[in-house]
Amino acid sequence: MAKKAAKKTAKKNDEKIVVTSALPYVNNVPHLGTLICVLSADVYTRYLKLRNKNVISVLGTDEHGTTTEVKAQELGITPQECVDRYFKIHKELYEWFECYFDCFGRTSSKENHEISKDIFVKLQKNGYIIEREIEQLFCTACNKFLADRFIEGKCPHCKYEKARGDQCDNCSKLLNPTDLLDARCIVCHNKPIVKKSNHLFIDLPKLQPQLESWIKTVEKTWSQNAKTTTHGWLKQGLKERAITRDLKWGIPVPGYPGKVFYSWFDAPIGYISITKETRKDWQDWWKNKETKLVQFMGKDNIPFHTILFPAFLIGADDGYILVRELSVNEYLNYESGKFSKSLNQGVFCDDAKNTGIPADVWRYYLLMNRPEESDALFTWDGFLEKTNNELVANLGNLVNRTLFFINKYYDSVVPHAHEKNLSYDAEVKKIETLLDAIKLKEALKEIMLLSKKANAYFQEHEPWKTITSDKKRADTALFHLVNLIKDLSILIHPYLPQTSAQIQQQLHLKALSWNDLKKPVPAGHKINTAALLFKKLEEKQIQRFKEQFAGKKAASGENAASLQKTTSVEKSYTADKTGVGDFSILDIKVAKVLSVSDHPNAEKLYVLQIDLGNEQRQIVAGLREHYAAEDLTGKHILVVTNLEPAKLRGEASNGMLLAAEQNGTVGVLLAEHAASGMQITVNNIAPQTKQIKYADFLQVKIIAQQGRAFWNTLALTAGGKPVTVDKNVEGLVH
Ligand code: MF3
Ligand code: ZN
Repeated sequence: MAKKAAKKTAKKNDEKIVVTSALPYVNNVPHLGTLICVLSADVYTRYLKLRNKNVISVLGTDEHGTTTEVKAQELGITPQECVDRYFKIHKELYEWFECYFDCFGRTSSKENHEISKDIFVKLQKNGYIIEREIEQLFCTACNKFLADRFIEGKCPHCKYEKARGDQCDNCSKLLNPTDLLDARCIVCHNKPIVKKSNHLFIDLPKLQPQLESWIKTVEKTWSQNAKTTTHGWLKQGLKERAITRDLKWGIPVPGYPGKVFYSWFDAPIGYISITKETRKDWQDWWKNKETKLVQFMGKDNIPFHTILFPAFLIGADDGYILVRELSVNEYLNYESGKFSKSLNQGVFCDDAKNTGIPADVWRYYLLMNRPEESDALFTWDGFLEKTNNELVANLGNLVNRTLFFINKYYDSVVPHAHEKNLSYDAEVKKIETLLDAIKLKEALKEIMLLSKKANAYFQEHEPWKTITSDKKRADTALFHLVNLIKDLSILIHPYLPQTSAQIQQQLHLKALSWNDLKKPVPAGHKINTAALLFKKLEEKQIQRFKEQFAGKKAASGENAASLQKTTSVEKSYTADKTGVGDFSILDIKVAKVLSVSDHPNAEKLYVLQIDLGNEQRQIVAGLREHYAAEDLTGKHILVVTNLEPAKLRGEASNGMLLAAEQNGTVGVLLAEHAASGMQITVNNIAPQTKQIKYADFLQVKIIAQQGRAFWNTLALTAGGKPVTVDKNVEGLVH
């Protein structure tokens, strides 16, 4: 009997597991909401590895699609350059957050081209591809077919004005772009025309019976929202779905010149090809019936993983495995519902990195606040509170005071226990069960409760007293505490890998695995010197971030909708020939600051009266944290004079001053030698005088370097003399 059981476990441990995280779109800097999914897959994989499971994890970037084309166009670079740039940013940021993946790649790879075409050809051969002529909206101004999300118009059902081509955000009804009343191109606002084009469709109705019988066998472990969404689709009856697009950027469809695959066709296939990119033995994982495929995704990705991707693989009939378990996260929202999601709001991964707060602290908050069963909210106050009251006050305090005590009173040697008066087997079992069920937040809560229990045990045994009055009691407590801390370092590892390693370093232990939970640290073991695990977050510091991020919104004012987020990572790009925009759209003049007053209802803003030689104007600038009013007065600053006038929190702003920012320090651009009204030029290029929008301004990359300002490596000058940058700040000018 015992023998049989042992054999069974051995076999189970051998089972191959592939864990994937949805591949983020790579045309923007990832948001913390995007990170949630990546982070969850990382935590789960780390857990499986701790348990010595035979697992590989897969992540990469989703690089095709119209959004990439549009973004590249905006940046004045090719789609390839665009994805190369953002791929690097994504990769570095995930690494910074300590999200480790065995296979990390891209959907634009040669392998993905090959496998996507191969799966398509097999689908075609097996009779699941249909060709149809369809009517599509085409923008003659942009000269392209418009993807559903690039069309806006009035909803035919509820008459909401801003329904998108695929769905109405007001009544939630699914739409076809041709259903919209008064359809507009969201890029240029022109009315698109209807144009015919041939497209290839996957015959989902034909695949439905096979899909249904497969779903029955796996759905038991799926989350409720995954089941509901999937059954919703099945119940309505699956429809034929286009898998091609008329775009240049993408994987060419064999036999159909000018067409590429819809990015949702090749993106999930990316999971397979990314594995192939990284590993010779990829087929042992993906074409092996015994492999368990576990996929992490956001809730909007459900049908692509439970219906479409499986349909491609079932139809191709080439032995690929299908998803067995899925973990769906809901959304992470930012602060209260105050801001709209599509705007430049919230915390992006690079913002988080630039705060200087360690990755583990972010990981803790994001996982403790994981949108597991329902949407969750990121709030700065919550972040401060959870960090200080839980991470620092509970776990950090426990480890520090215990190890410090052993350093001080036991010469760093673990004492002997005289009785067993602490047990937590049930807690460990519960944590394990929750982790197995991918209830990551719940498991983390339990781990923290265990840490709390340890703190209570410390209090109860009063070692600071008993060390002299009842040494046996103190010895016993410290022995058990060291062991519990060792176990916590293992349990917490999937969540806080760095912290776990630090605790183990202080304990003078290394790379412990789940099996070490049952192996005690013996009396006589010598530990290292205790050191603080976490720093408390300062309320002032958090308040600053809060304002900085709110200010980002306020400063963008009415133009927010068209505002492109310029992140600090992008800011670190120095001028290259392609992405610098057109300097000549800017009419920049020297302006003398006549007076500076506080904005009546925005803490961070000043209202400035300026002299432009032949006229005086009022502008609003977010400089209050960076300059005293008297320091600005009299300066000869640079102002973009042909910006569309705006109102910022009720105050008219008729122009925008130029300043550079570096790690929170802001320095204005100056032309102290020049008279008010003097034109700023590069290479004597004359500016247009046409009015421009804030978003147009953002396309022009002016860089501050070594006290000077440059566009496309050309210095900005006033009357032949270079413009200077106050405080020698280096970075993007805005
Ligand atoms: N890029 C998609 C998103 O962010 C997810 C793609 S998942 C994959 O919503 F299956 F296509 F890879
Ligand atoms: Zn258009």
